[in-house]
Amino acid sequence: MKYKRILLKLSGEALMGERQYGIDPQRLKEYAQEIKEVVAKNIEVAIVIGGGNIFRGVAGELNGMDRVQGDHMGMLATCINGLALQSALEDEGLQTRLQTAIEIKEIAEPYIKRKANRHLEKGRVVIFGAGTGNPYFTTDTAAVLRAIEINADAILKGTRVDGIYTSDPEKDKNATKFHSITFKDVIEKGLKVMDMTAFTLSEENELPIIVFDMNKTGNLLKLLSGEQIGTVVNNQ
Ligand code: GTP
Repeated sequence: MKYKRILLKLSGEALMGERQYGIDPQRLKEYAQEIKEVVAKNIEVAIVIGGGNIFRGVAGELNGMDRVQGDHMGMLATCINGLALQSALEDEGLQTRLQTAIEIKEIAEPYIKRKANRHLEKGRVVIFGAGTGNPYFTTDTAAVLRAIEINADAILKGTRVDGIYTSDPEKDKNATKFHSITFKDVIEKGLKVMDMTAFTLSEENELPIIVFDMNKTGNLLKLLSGEQIGTVVNNQ
């Protein structure tokens, strides 16, 4: 296997499946099954999940809501998704722990790096909820931060596009995909991979980012087995 410990970043929106809001149980189950296959290969899996299927702080601000208030709502949304994912993973027979950046002790463990490491070593899937615990940061930033903290080998960003393209493939049919690209080229070409805070944090800490299509069955395991899936962003 190419990596021993990964941080998987899942988008909240992806959990909606074909719905307009909330969680599609079928999609959730599919994700849990994909993750189960990977755990079966003795890969240590940590997960950060977004909350956009429930609430986005930025959207709240556009509607006149205080940004900090909105971001707090977004952080709670990631905890709701985390609980749903935890439940789906446990239905597949996996051991899991949910740790949150904001204490909600009755519901989940607080985030403690050393405990997270121990859980991972024991083969438990660790889900990190509530983002970084701070407003103005995205769950992409939380994902990179946690990945660095736990020494993950890479961050795998599951999206609905199968990698990074020269331009938006949903708008431009001549767009071509990169198999790999450097951090520097992403910035120079003005490509969008993550927000800049998350992206530069990843670059400075030499954490490779892999963008891939999480909605294609088997993709996650193929990627980890070394098949050329998605796009890798690294320093080479
Ligand atoms: P080991 O020390 O490796 O055995 O880890 P462990 O997670 O099994 O031990 P621990 O006794 O810390 O946790 C037992 C259970 O309690 C697990 O399901 C944890 O997720 C849960 N747990 C631990 N701390 C908290 C907490 O602060 N809040 C909540 N809600 N659950 C917790």
